[in-house]
Amino acid sequence: MAVHIKELTPGFVGEVSGVDLTKPLTPEEAQAIDAGMDRLAVLVFHDQPVTDEQQVAFSLNFGQLERPDNKSNITKAQDRRLSPDLADISNLDRENRLHGRDDRQRLFNLGNRLWHSDSSFRATPAKYSLLSGRIVPAEGGDTEFADMRQAYDALDAKTKAEVEHLICEHSLLYSRGALGFDDDLTEDEKQGFRPVRQSLVRVHPKSGRKSLYLSAHAGRIVGMPTPEARIFLRELNEQATKPPFVYAHKWRAGDIVMWDNRQTMHRARPFDDVGQVRDMRRTTIAGEAMTAEQIAA
Ligand code: OGA
Ligand code: MN
Repeated sequence: MAVHIKELTPGFVGEVSGVDLTKPLTPEEAQAIDAGMDRLAVLVFHDQPVTDEQQVAFSLNFGQLERPDNKSNITKAQDRRLSPDLADISNLDRENRLHGRDDRQRLFNLGNRLWHSDSSFRATPAKYSLLSGRIVPAEGGDTEFADMRQAYDALDAKTKAEVEHLICEHSLLYSRGALGFDDDLTEDEKQGFRPVRQSLVRVHPKSGRKSLYLSAHAGRIVGMPTPEARIFLRELNEQATKPPFVYAHKWRAGDIVMWDNRQTMHRARPFDDVGQVRDMRRTTIAGEAMTAEQIAA
């Protein structure tokens, strides 16, 4: 059976059938999926009950893995539930117990409910993310995606000219600061979360399409007073996440959703996270280039 992609949201989200992700892909299958990612930006696969190893093997068709570390989270190595190849997007601790309401990891993870692009706080940010829904709650917990190419296209000419050469500073300090969690970070954590620079406008290497590179991690714009930068970014975010640009994914156990972080933002939606298990596991494909020059530390 050949890979088939049905567009759920034209030019943005596709539903893929005719492929079994628990098995090694043929070069043709990998190529069809990669071409789908270049043309759309989000792909949904149903009924793919992968193991962690199978998820990693599937992911490696698209590049090198980006591994979570102490620069991307507050999790200590000894508290990790999953192998270092996977980011734990669940509400569970090492013993598979639900995090309590005041749990530090839970409060940090609430940041995923802000619109963001994965690891935009790294000098070389992520290319793709692949999220596997192992256990999903009965209600809520959707993931929403916003198309940053359409958001860019919809800007007026004046705003396009304004954003063209802007460089933003991204850090977990800014996204967690928005939640008031920054007070709770240790000096070591703050050191690891030092800001990096990212271009506000990105160009897709294959399609040549421009997109707005926004994220909750963006907290400053080089050469602009911070309050002006924050309000400008907030306005851009508001415009970019309006209904015509947004797709909401309702999870079924066994779904895998793959997205291009260079061209989209996403966020988790609320659910009863202290009462119901949501076990999601993410593999991340490392980016191939920085979007802006970094300044020496
Ligand atoms: C992620 C993420 C959102 C969700 O996996 O990077 O932000 O709905 N997930 O869990
Ligand atoms: Mn994310």
